[in-house]
Amino acid sequence: MTSRSTTIINGQYLLLMEGEVGGGCEREKSAISYLGLHDRWKSGSLVVDIRRYAQVGMGKVVIISIWLLLRILRPPDAHSQRAMVMRNVHVFSINILTMVGKKEWKVTDIPDLSGRVAIVTGGNTGLGYITVRELARNGARVYMLSRTESRALAAIEKIKTELGSELKPEIEYINFNLLSLKSAKKAAEEYMQREQRLDILVNNAGIMATPYELGPDGIEMQACNGTGHFALTVTLIPILKDTAAMPGSHVRIVNITSGGYMLANMTKPDFTSLEGLNQKTFGTWGRYGLSKLTNILLTNELQKRFTAAGINNIYCLAVHPGAVNTELSRGLLESWPFLAPLRRVGRMMTTNPDRGALTQLYAATSPEVVEKDLKATLLFPIAQVEAKASIAKDKDGKLGGDFWRLCEELMRQKA
Ligand SMILES: NC(=O)c1ccc[n+]([C@@H]2O[C@H](COP(=O)([O-])OP(=O)(O)OC[C@H]3O[C@@H](n4cnc5c(N)ncnc54)[C@H](OP(=O)(O)O)[C@@H]3O)[C@@H](O)[C@H]2O)c1
Repeated sequence: MTSRSTTIINGQYLLLMEGEVGGGCEREKSAISYLGLHDRWKSGSLVVDIRRYAQVGMGKVVIISIWLLLRILRPPDAHSQRAMVMRNVHVFSINILTMVGKKEWKVTDIPDLSGRVAIVTGGNTGLGYITVRELARNGARVYMLSRTESRALAAIEKIKTELGSELKPEIEYINFNLLSLKSAKKAAEEYMQREQRLDILVNNAGIMATPYELGPDGIEMQACNGTGHFALTVTLIPILKDTAAMPGSHVRIVNITSGGYMLANMTKPDFTSLEGLNQKTFGTWGRYGLSKLTNILLTNELQKRFTAAGINNIYCLAVHPGAVNTELSRGLLESWPFLAPLRRVGRMMTTNPDRGALTQLYAATSPEVVEKDLKATLLFPIAQVEAKASIAKDKDGKLGGDFWRLCEELMRQKA
């Protein structure tokens, strides 16, 4: 028997179709995988997440409707002649859909950003570098917030060369160290002395899988992926609010998380105290997962607070960029140096930073974020809304609230 259920997630219509899994379904399964759909086996059923279809244009929606109809009308006897014909027709319609092509957001879809001002943390390499370059290419004045001046200035020069002198890109540098709450607060204050507006804040800097070590504020280094960005963002709130009040503005706060936030499920998150945040027992990956969870919790909390304050044109989003070939594996190699020979394999299994940065560029610039009201959403590549796992939904707001209060307290003590 085929069963169907519907639910609403993040304001999007989500249709889940569950069909029995047998030999006859194999072709469907491969066609669906080919489509790049979010399919997964669930208690012996093939669960197809139709949300991705829902994001395509009307023509494709018609094809999907036919496909669904055929799916529903499939006769109970899966081995009958009629069933075989119908299965072929509906696999064929999937193939047509694939040929028509899913609409994928492209870097050329970035609108004109003249007059807008942006901050990108960790912009000197990897995903941040591409983000700075593309924002500047489209006319934004961009501040690269980085911890090492020489690396930042070299990156700015490289971007200017890549973009060419005709574009006259405006890229500035401010020193910013995620590990120090004082440094993050100071960077925000310096920015506010230099600028009157902040349209786009991309909290991108981060480390992954580093060995256990406390930073200068006594905060575990990976946890600083969350605390450092809290200090920066919260200090910038006045200018973000001022910008939101300007005519025609729509402010974006984009927090780069990771699908690895799910690793936090292996831990017992405790954000009620510094000791809880610093727990050593979670292991390298557990601590990375927790830090990336805090990037999502910050997104949720910021959005909640803006909404409560009656501000509706600040859009806070969390973005997982995918598996991207960047320098992020530095931490991994510090923890497990013997993995160094596998770097080439890693490169083969990851995408390039140009493609990896697309989802954060979409979140930072696309008018669709406003049109679809993508507030407090989690995006997966490329520019797809992804349902949050319950640990990140944080329905009762406990984890997010605890994290917020702890960071406020740490800032009172250290910044
Ligand atoms: N690459 C992936 O597959 C992937 C997957 C999921 C999520 N992400 C997330 O994407 C973000 C960007 O990572 P990436 O892949 O582009 O890595 P990357 O190439 O290593 O770049 C990380 C950036 O963060 C900066 N940074 C690190 N620690 C800092 C600190 N204490 N203070 C200030 N800046 C600091 C680095 O500066 P330095 O150059 O000075 O070290 C660098 O600019 C991270 O938040 C990461 O968690 C990446």
